[in-house]
Amino acid sequence: MKKYILFFVIVISNILFLNNTFAQGGMWLPNQLDRNQKDMMSKGCHISAKQIYDEQNASIKDAVVLFGRGCTGEFVSNQGLLFTNHHCGYSEIVKHSTVDHDYLTNGFAAMSLDEELPCPGLTVTLLQYMKDVTSDVLSGVSSSMTEKERQMKVNENIKNIVENTTKGTNLDGYVKALYYGNQYMLYVNKIYKDVRLVVAPPSNIGKFGGDTDNWMWPRHTGDFSVFRVYADANNEPAEYSKNNKPYQPKKFLKISLKDKNEGDFTFVMGYPGTTQQFLTSYAVEDIQNIEDPARIKLRTERLNVYKSAQEESPAKRLRYASDVASIANGWKKWQGEVKGLKFLNAVEKKRQGELNNPLMSQFYELYNDNRKYKLEQLYIGEAVLASDFMYNTRRLLSLIDLSMDNTVTDIVLKTEADNLLSWLDKYYNNDFASHRGVDSMIFVRTMTIFYNDFAKDNYNFLHDKLNKMPIEDYFADIYKTSVLNNPEKIRKVLKDYKRKNYKKLIDDSAVEFLSPIWGQYVNSTREKLTQNNNKLDSLYRINTKHYIDEYNRHNNTKDMSMNNGIFPDANLTMRVTYGNIASFKPKDGITYRHYTTIAGIMEKEEPNIYDYVVEQKLKDIYYNNDIAPYSDRVAFIATNHTTGGNSGSPVMDADGNLIGLNFDRNWEGTMSDILYDKDLCRNITLDIRYCLLIIDKYLEAKNLINELELVK
Ligand code: ARG
Ligand code: GLU
Repeated sequence: MKKYILFFVIVISNILFLNNTFAQGGMWLPNQLDRNQKDMMSKGCHISAKQIYDEQNASIKDAVVLFGRGCTGEFVSNQGLLFTNHHCGYSEIVKHSTVDHDYLTNGFAAMSLDEELPCPGLTVTLLQYMKDVTSDVLSGVSSSMTEKERQMKVNENIKNIVENTTKGTNLDGYVKALYYGNQYMLYVNKIYKDVRLVVAPPSNIGKFGGDTDNWMWPRHTGDFSVFRVYADANNEPAEYSKNNKPYQPKKFLKISLKDKNEGDFTFVMGYPGTTQQFLTSYAVEDIQNIEDPARIKLRTERLNVYKSAQEESPAKRLRYASDVASIANGWKKWQGEVKGLKFLNAVEKKRQGELNNPLMSQFYELYNDNRKYKLEQLYIGEAVLASDFMYNTRRLLSLIDLSMDNTVTDIVLKTEADNLLSWLDKYYNNDFASHRGVDSMIFVRTMTIFYNDFAKDNYNFLHDKLNKMPIEDYFADIYKTSVLNNPEKIRKVLKDYKRKNYKKLIDDSAVEFLSPIWGQYVNSTREKLTQNNNKLDSLYRINTKHYIDEYNRHNNTKDMSMNNGIFPDANLTMRVTYGNIASFKPKDGITYRHYTTIAGIMEKEEPNIYDYVVEQKLKDIYYNNDIAPYSDRVAFIATNHTTGGNSGSPVMDADGNLIGLNFDRNWEGTMSDILYDKDLCRNITLDIRYCLLIIDKYLEAKNLINELELVK
């Protein structure tokens, strides 16, 4: 600890360091929004911070929910009607889709409450209140403690705080660290468990443009779906029951049908997942030059395999659609991120801000040491476990481990083996015969990159074998000879599993290959990562505190507390971000308008390309001009600082009326998780009027339109 003290007495000479480190943007704590009030007003806001977040009276925060585990939704009627994105409701829509009722492809709308479809497992979380509990969390923590001792004390305090708050209630609570543990916030929630699907647009509206248009502006995706939250007779959370009633929210959002113009104020309330604005230049450099490129390279390989399989038949296109969607989402975002970081000269900017900072040598050492372990973890996730083959092998490994552990009872072993068997049964019965070609290709190709780019220099044990034959042949051979490629044989081993059966598995080619790699990761690398990350966290805690103090000093901020200019990184808790509707210039000579229209859908139409099919019904609506009282606008962009998790978030106007659903960012601006830039970064919002147009005129669910409160 002592060596850090020096840091606080050194006067940082570079006044620009803050500007270089944080280029505006902001995801603000809703309970401290009064500190942003003046700025919000100057940007055009008409309502007060209290109308957005208030613990005593109904406020906008009561209309905004965490949808599932990683999206946002908002109430739009006094009957618990909830809007979110199509891609947020996607897996629920898939679960309700069959060949006879293909809601995913054709869309779905419940014409009455009893047509709404229960979604077991789906939850909606409503924030009751949040509270700064920093002093309670840090009580008993002293500067002489080691990081581990500190963490233990902090965890113990957190446990007590949560218990004292929620014991004997139907509340759920958690505490989250802000600014790397310079501040702690308690969140108290009610979790509603009876949530039902009400509307899904057809995929060629809800996912129009598919992965090609993903992360791109100009955009024409009708990315919305509608759910309803149910509660017990007292309006409280309850498990699914026929007797439950639509939940009556304290507050729901009115919907504005007005046109939005360049410069108009907008704000977004929701649950952004992760940002990393405090990262040092060393971390940004690694992301830009090593980590993102490695991930992109591996995913390019996987996508190529899936895509050529998809071209073989419509059935295969569907089979791999959701895998491709999720692999391609990160793949494309990282490419934008690398481009954006380079364009902004992010590493150099960060470095400028780090001059004279005596902590930097420690950061440097730690990142240097950690690089190998981080890469190993990256390759485990993106290559080693990318194929189903290796994923299944890992499960075999853990069965073998359990079998060799005498403290594990026979019953436990048998249950484990049965679970694995039923998992594999499903896997083999599904479409193994045609899928194995794809999966083996994924395995061979990702492993070859893994070997050439990483393993060759890091795993000595692979050398001997690989000296003897071409690497691709070596991996192809593992695939071919493994028991996992022989359903009959593996079923025999797992059925009525006895402890000694593991001996039949231990020499298997796949087990032999994965065992040392997985073993090193689990037994050694993970621990080293934890150690280094703990050290980094504690450095970041000190560094971040220093930035904030400096910020306050430079700005003569009287209130020395936080949330006053530098926002805490997103951590999947409720935040508010605000900005203005704004066009942007992606490149010299090009300006992108701030909105798109249905005309653009017609322009993009390609009847033979799945993602660009336009239904006749939408054409009829458009060409017959059957659009009033809505609009032909589809989406718009603004300067709100958002990230993953903000999907489905309400985008509101200066009066707090709903004008759209946040669903994406522009590609040129995806580096905003690390460094925001007001000229380049835009959030992409579905114009709420396109959503209503589809519900009203395409799905003809007037019953739902009647529930809404429209402001003209
Ligand atoms: N890019 C958006 C987000 O990050 C949408 C992703 C879903 N859409 C898709 N085509 N994969 O989540
Ligand atoms: N589509 C993202 C999500 O699912 C939002 C886009 C972003 O990362 O900003 O949350």
